Amino acid sequence: MNKSFPNNAEPMQVAVESIGMRGDGIAVVDGVPYYIPGTAPGDVVDIIRGSKRDDGYTATVSTSHTPGPDRTEPACRHFGTCGGCTLQHITPGAVADIKRDQISLTLARHGFQDIPIRETIAIPPGERRRVRFSMHKKRGVAFGFNANRSNDVIDIAECPAARPEIAKLIPDLKALAARTPALGRRAEFIVTATDTGIDILLRPSKRKNPGMDERVALAAFAERHDIARIGWDGPIGYEPLAARRAPTITFGKTRLAMPPDAFLQPSQGGERAIVKAVCDAAAGARKITDLYAGCGALSFPLSALGPVQAYEGNEDMVQAIRYAAAGQPVAAEIRDLARRPLSPDELKRFDTIVFDPPRAGAREQAGTIALSAAQTVIAVSCNPATLARDLRTLVTGGYRIESIQPIDQFPWSAHVEAVAVLRRDRP
Ligand SMILES: C[S@@+](CC[C@H](N)C(=O)[O-])C[C@H]1O[C@@H](n2cnc3c(N)ncnc32)[C@H](O)[C@@H]1O
Repeated sequence: MNKSFPNNAEPMQVAVESIGMRGDGIAVVDGVPYYIPGTAPGDVVDIIRGSKRDDGYTATVSTSHTPGPDRTEPACRHFGTCGGCTLQHITPGAVADIKRDQISLTLARHGFQDIPIRETIAIPPGERRRVRFSMHKKRGVAFGFNANRSNDVIDIAECPAARPEIAKLIPDLKALAARTPALGRRAEFIVTATDTGIDILLRPSKRKNPGMDERVALAAFAERHDIARIGWDGPIGYEPLAARRAPTITFGKTRLAMPPDAFLQPSQGGERAIVKAVCDAAAGARKITDLYAGCGALSFPLSALGPVQAYEGNEDMVQAIRYAAAGQPVAAEIRDLARRPLSPDELKRFDTIVFDPPRAGAREQAGTIALSAAQTVIAVSCNPATLARDLRTLVTGGYRIESIQPIDQFPWSAHVEAVAVLRRDRP
């Protein structure tokens, strides 16, 4: 229905057809996609063409005519300017389908048809337990999140995506930023809700140490708000400024002392859904390896099935696993799996391989897993594109994709998590 664009200054009426990987609505005009933030499938809008992007153009809405059927009222007053959420204007049911479609379209682009993709498990908003706030001092202090694809910090007063104990601290954290000059003009506040309370890591972009008065004020802040720990990432690394309780996280039945800024799945509900999908697929496993193990969110629950050998590139996280694992069948080793992936020979010890790499995926490690004899391989991923690439490597090596479970553990954002289960059929 969309007809060719008159020119880049004049508005043009289009109907939005789908949502892209970055959360923008997409309308196609003469085969060219237009990426339109804030729109929903079925919206009929006038757009003004913006800059070139990928195979098309960005565009902004000049007039809205008809809303699509899945539009809803955004929950947050900052939606539209704040870059933290891109999909608050679409109903949860429709978002669940959009995320499932993202995975299925990406797999199709890599030549996969007819893969059994389950219905999306959706984690409700308000459960984010790790929030990275940005702070920018110009004339005053802006405290919140970056605007979409921009370095500008949008000052926020609320965040319904975050756990309430984090959201309610926003005004106080902003005030704290204003009276802490050593944070400089830009800083990150990494705030995590742990078992023992809130953990705050302050990371000034120009690494500088706080003065004595600032240290006293930060300790008083921790006292006043019952914060478990406040740490500072300064010129010589991490320094705890107020350590009132050790922040701990529980994986399965194991309590672990969380290193500052250690990897953590964004919500407990999301983590539970991943753990269940992984452990269900690993039923019957006798010897398991957990690659890219983080602090062992999967290793500890998997150890109820059989001994687990975890590999992780970050030394602090490996140490945290080792301390917490005392008396349990979980061992952890530090290893850079991109530079030194486990070889097919090393993988011989395991009948089940779990890997959960960062967004870049596990190109090198997937290459050697494809040559292994493990009966079950379980891939956990927050990036459908690199997942599809790694799955292609595994399928070329003789694995069959049994199922894919999408998990929307990043509600209101365009991200999606997936757990893919692969088996090696015996001849
Ligand atoms: C997506 S997290 C998964 C962590 C864990 N499975 C969990 O659920 O909490 C990816 C982990 O891979 C680690 N990592 C990143 N690059 C790595 C590499 N080249 N070698 C080993 N580990 C790496 C990161 O430190 C991070 O802990």
